[in-house]
Amino acid sequence: CGIVGYIGKREAYTIIMDGLKRLEYRGYDSAGIALYDGSEIKLCKTKGKVANLEARVKEEITTNGNVGIGHTRWATHGVPNDVNSHPHYSNSGDLVIIHNGIIENYDSIKTELLKRGYVFKSDTDTEVLINLIEEVKKKNNVKLGKAVQLALKEVVGAYAIAVFDKNKPDEIVVAKLGSPLAIGIGEDEFFIASDASPFIEYTKNAIYLEDEEMAIVRRDKKIKIRKINDDSEVTPAMQELKFNLEQIEKGGYEHFMLKEIHEQPNAIRDTYRGRLLANEGIIRMAGIDDNLEKFLNANRIIIVACGTSWHAGLVAEYIFEDLARIPVEVEYASEFRYRNPVITDKDVVIAISQSGETADTLAAIKLAKSKGAFVFGVCNVVGSTIARETNAGAYTHAGPEIGVASTKAFTTQITVLTLIALKLAKANGSMSKTVFHSHLQELELIPDKVKEALKADKHIKEVAHIYKDAKNCLYLGRGYNFPVALEGALKLKEISYIHAEGYPAAEMKHGPIALIDDQMPVFVIATKKGHYEKVVSNIQEIKSRSGKIIGIVTKGDIDVKKVADHVIEVPETIESLTPLLTTIPLQLLSYHIAVMLDKNVDQPRNLAKSVTVE
Ligand code: G6P
Repeated sequence: CGIVGYIGKREAYTIIMDGLKRLEYRGYDSAGIALYDGSEIKLCKTKGKVANLEARVKEEITTNGNVGIGHTRWATHGVPNDVNSHPHYSNSGDLVIIHNGIIENYDSIKTELLKRGYVFKSDTDTEVLINLIEEVKKKNNVKLGKAVQLALKEVVGAYAIAVFDKNKPDEIVVAKLGSPLAIGIGEDEFFIASDASPFIEYTKNAIYLEDEEMAIVRRDKKIKIRKINDDSEVTPAMQELKFNLEQIEKGGYEHFMLKEIHEQPNAIRDTYRGRLLANEGIIRMAGIDDNLEKFLNANRIIIVACGTSWHAGLVAEYIFEDLARIPVEVEYASEFRYRNPVITDKDVVIAISQSGETADTLAAIKLAKSKGAFVFGVCNVVGSTIARETNAGAYTHAGPEIGVASTKAFTTQITVLTLIALKLAKANGSMSKTVFHSHLQELELIPDKVKEALKADKHIKEVAHIYKDAKNCLYLGRGYNFPVALEGALKLKEISYIHAEGYPAAEMKHGPIALIDDQMPVFVIATKKGHYEKVVSNIQEIKSRSGKIIGIVTKGDIDVKKVADHVIEVPETIESLTPLLTTIPLQLLSYHIAVMLDKNVDQPRNLAKSVTVE
């Protein structure tokens, strides 16, 4: 998902098209462009790659003109197709918009606009926004800038937008909240983009808009920036760009994986955006609301998934059984599909898949459906095969994940599954209203706590340095954190090629304990909530066999600190949410070890991001 815009004296088409190609790395499923040719706005958009768009532009529109906007879309509302691609016209055809982000309250705005006679061609929240802007503009008889500002005040959600009006083709209005937006400043020309990569070859001067700011860029004029809320003027803070192209793509991080690890606070927030209404004590999820009876009448829930998504499923087993008292079984999709499993129409199957394309998971879904089960999908990629094959679902909204080793997809899957479990727990009476409320409030704090956990990075790097040459590693956890131990071990295997095993802490004595000596690092998740004393005893057992202990502990921990060789702290939270925090240091640890061993972090050998073969 990326946006590009240009206003100046050069041919806008080439700049925008090259810019869209530069933004391809961000992941997208459709692309589009709008150009002002001196009298009309010409628009062309298509599902698929920028190359498709280029071919189509040649057939459909003229490409002269010095003003335009372009977009690569990564679907959040509405499947990827031509109609849902951006840019979007307003009903009159005068205004045109590109948008990254999610408008949470688009449904209620749309209802109002429908009453006023607006018609909608697409399923997108963006088309709702451009018509809201048009309505506000007409009703108040104001200029475009003012209309954008007033409309955005009514909007809840996240956005980076660029809008222009064919009746005022000398200006583009941009605004930002949550999603990134950079403005390149040339001589009598402006570039607009999600990051500086589309314009770095033209100018080194840029302004990064802050949240809740909007700007009007006019040909031949100085840029004007205002606060959306109180209309106060902001002095533009110009920066000189020092990054090269590759560094810009990775947001200044060395690898996509590191970027994605650091994106988790925002990704988790995006996952519950518009769904978790903590103050009102409500969780809103259409996919569950519309099928509540299916879930409430289910004999059990069967979760099918592969890889990291399977680990998210294991965490969900604890969450569903503990909070909602619904029996859960978690299956490797690849085993399930060939096992002649007992499934009936009383079963609800939840399929978890980041890509929504994993062949084994897809086959498991088809099998479950053929036996009459209701199948619910938890996917990251909107409109993916699994999202389409399932009876209903909930997207994770984590944004594109590019690193092969999954990070933010995992934590956002757990977030969605937590929302579902809480919703069911309230609906079936397993959770009191007060407890439900306190869970919602705690979940809302998680993004900030993840941010806090990320701050241990420097210390984690030191620990990584000490253990980078280990040949084998053991990861232990109990309860909710047992699957986190499995995921920690998987991350290390995937990117550093060090052999690692995850185990339930108490099972250690039935085997792995034989391996422990002073060459064996053991990563133990020992947070305060959940079997703490028992895990501390396990740690003693490792210590007395000279194993090296790295404890993942709650902030302020005393007991583990006494025995462990190192501890890494995470903030305190309720037990069911600890996986969202304990996962973070384990991701960083694997990352640093892989970098120190000079491995290809983003594309580890033999692995694929999406496994579409059996
Ligand atoms: C591949 C990836 C893993 C992922 C697994 C399942 O093995 O490398 O990171 O966890 O597939 O993928 P899915 O897209 O279904 O979650």
